[in-house]
Amino acid sequence: MKRIVTSKVFLLLTIMLVVLAAGCSADGGSSQADDQIKIGIVQIVEHPSLNMIRESFVDHLAEQGYRDGENVIIDYQNAQNDQTNLKTICQKFSTSKYDMIVAIATPSAQAAVGETKDIPIVFSACTDPVGSGLVDSLEKPGANVTGTSDAVSAEKIMGLAQRITPGIKTIGALYSSSETNSIAVIENLEEYAQQNGLTVVHATVMNSSEVQQATATLTDKADAIFIPIDNTIASAMPVVAQVAKDAKTPVYVGADSLVKDGGLATYGVNYVVLGQETANIAIQILEGQNPGDIPVKTISDVEVYLNKTTAEAIGVTISEDVLNEAAEIFE
Ligand code: TRP
Repeated sequence: MKRIVTSKVFLLLTIMLVVLAAGCSADGGSSQADDQIKIGIVQIVEHPSLNMIRESFVDHLAEQGYRDGENVIIDYQNAQNDQTNLKTICQKFSTSKYDMIVAIATPSAQAAVGETKDIPIVFSACTDPVGSGLVDSLEKPGANVTGTSDAVSAEKIMGLAQRITPGIKTIGALYSSSETNSIAVIENLEEYAQQNGLTVVHATVMNSSEVQQATATLTDKADAIFIPIDNTIASAMPVVAQVAKDAKTPVYVGADSLVKDGGLATYGVNYVVLGQETANIAIQILEGQNPGDIPVKTISDVEVYLNKTTAEAIGVTISEDVLNEAAEIFE
């Protein structure tokens, strides 16, 4: 009898010790850090539109209960428009086994996809996700990758251009030859030009230091300049705007920030909304969904953005009906 009691007490003590040990480690500093979700954000370059997307993403995540420094750790890295940096950043996110990589703009997304086939990748603002080799299809991305797209129609932007400055015959296309996000839109521009009997002349750049020269060759040859949603041009947009203003050449662009930085007009998506949609996808994945099953979100609402200061500087009067359509008029 006594022996049975002793062994029961022993068993009870053992259970208490195990429970106590488990409790201790749950409260311990190191294992609490393991409970936090680690998100690596990689951004190709610093320009207003990409910064806006990132801020909107982080804010929306917080509004939905995923707060940086509390239950999530957000590690933000910028590659300064350098491919080697992009690779290093994505490699680090992958070897540190982060829970998710958020890639802002196409070059970042391509680098992330090259580094991991396991960690979920949510890309943001990629103009042509299929053509850029990020996903198999928009409806069913497959694998570990999905995200948001800012696809725009060159045709639609040129339609607006012909309303603001009628009679454009030669369009000067200014873009970076290495950005697949730009190539897709330029192909669309070519189709539009062919259908309407217009000519496209091209000026491509390798990096932002070539932008000034490239713009100058186009102001000589073209009635208007067209810039797709190009990261390299965006980071030197004030330079483009200055050269074009001096030559009194209208510049039509693919995104609102390019208008804010001195372009004349666009039909573009709202990037605050795009950042929020990117956060919504990230949350779906954090809550257990498979990235490959989540369709790529495209933003179908496009709005007119105009720059009044640029219009005045090049002597263009924008008609009342176009002004009335504008979501925002930059000064
Ligand atoms: N769409 C671009 C890409 O696919 C990224 C981008 C978003 C961008 N907003 C922009 C580029 C504004 C230039 C200007 O990489």
